[in-house]
Amino acid sequence: MSEVTSLIADIREQILFLQELGVEALDVRLAEQSGDQRIKIEKAERVAAPVSSFEKALPPVPLEFPKRAAEAPKRGGSRISAMPSLKTRTPTMAAKSENMPKPTVVTLAEESILLNVAPTLAATADTIESIHAEIGDCTRCKLSKLGRTQVVHTTGNFQTDLMFVGEAPGADEDLHGFPFVGRAGRLLTDIITAMGFEREQVCIGNINRCRPPENRKPEPNETAACRPFLLREIAVIRPRVIVVLGATAAHNLLQISTPISKLRGNFQDYFGVKVMPTFHPAYLLRDPHKKKDVWEDMKKVRDYLVAK
Ligand code: URA
Repeated sequence: MSEVTSLIADIREQILFLQELGVEALDVRLAEQSGDQRIKIEKAERVAAPVSSFEKALPPVPLEFPKRAAEAPKRGGSRISAMPSLKTRTPTMAAKSENMPKPTVVTLAEESILLNVAPTLAATADTIESIHAEIGDCTRCKLSKLGRTQVVHTTGNFQTDLMFVGEAPGADEDLHGFPFVGRAGRLLTDIITAMGFEREQVCIGNINRCRPPENRKPEPNETAACRPFLLREIAVIRPRVIVVLGATAAHNLLQISTPISKLRGNFQDYFGVKVMPTFHPAYLLRDPHKKKDVWEDMKKVRDYLVAK
C-alpha cells in the first residue's frame, strides 16, 4: 500500500471509531496558512446517513492474503487464485465415493514428543468431501431428532488462510443448508468485507452442524459428537487464522472456559494456528456498541494475515 493509501485507510478506521462513539459529522478545517492546522470534530447535524455497517469502513484497496513462503504444498494451487464461488457449491459437498481415504493417524502427542516442539496440526489424509460423506445424514446426537432440516456443513474456500467458526445453525441456515446466511450472517459478511476480503475467500463453519431447537446453546454431549469433524476439517484446511465467534465456539475449540469478554482481542493458539476470539455477530445485532471491539479484533487478524 502506498503511504497515501495507508493514510486514507487509517483515517477511515478513525472515522469508524468516532462513529461508534456517536460522532455523526466531522467539520474539518485546515487553515490556509500553515500556522493553524486544527481539526475540529464535533456533534453536528447529520449531513449524511449514519454509517453503521462494517461495509462502510472498507479499506480503500482490497487486501490479498500474502503467499506463504515456506509451507506444505497446497491442494489445488494458490489459495487465493482459484477460489470457488459459494454460489457454485453443492449444498452438502457430500462426495459419494465408496473408496474414501481413511485418515492417517499421527497423534499430536507423538508428534510433539518426537520433535520436541510445540504441537502443530497433524498430517491427515482426510479431505473435506470425505469428512462430509462420513458425517452423512448424521444421527450421532439428538439434534437430528429435534427438528433439524439438514446438516449444515462448513462452506467456502477450503484453500483459505482465514476461517470463521460459529456456534450452530439457526433457522435460516437450517433452511438453506449453509452457515451464517441469516441476519447475523449478513453482518459477518460485512465484517469480512470491511477487513478487505470477500466472503468467497474465507471458509465458515460451526461447532455444531444441526440447529438446536429454539436456537438454544448446543449441549456438551451434542458438541462432543460434532466438534471432531470440525477439528478434522481444520487439519485439512490448515488456515493461518481461525476467528471464533462467541463463547461457545471459543470454548469448544480451545477447550477453556474463560469468559469471551476476557478472551476477545487476544490471539490464542490451536496447534500452531492463531485463534482470535471475538463477539458473535448475533450479539452485535443486540448490542451494536460492541462492534468497535470486534473491529479492533478483526484489524489484528487482518494485519497478521497481510504482514509479510
Ligand atoms: N449463528 C451461528 O453460530 N452459526 C450460524 O451458522 C448462524 C448463526
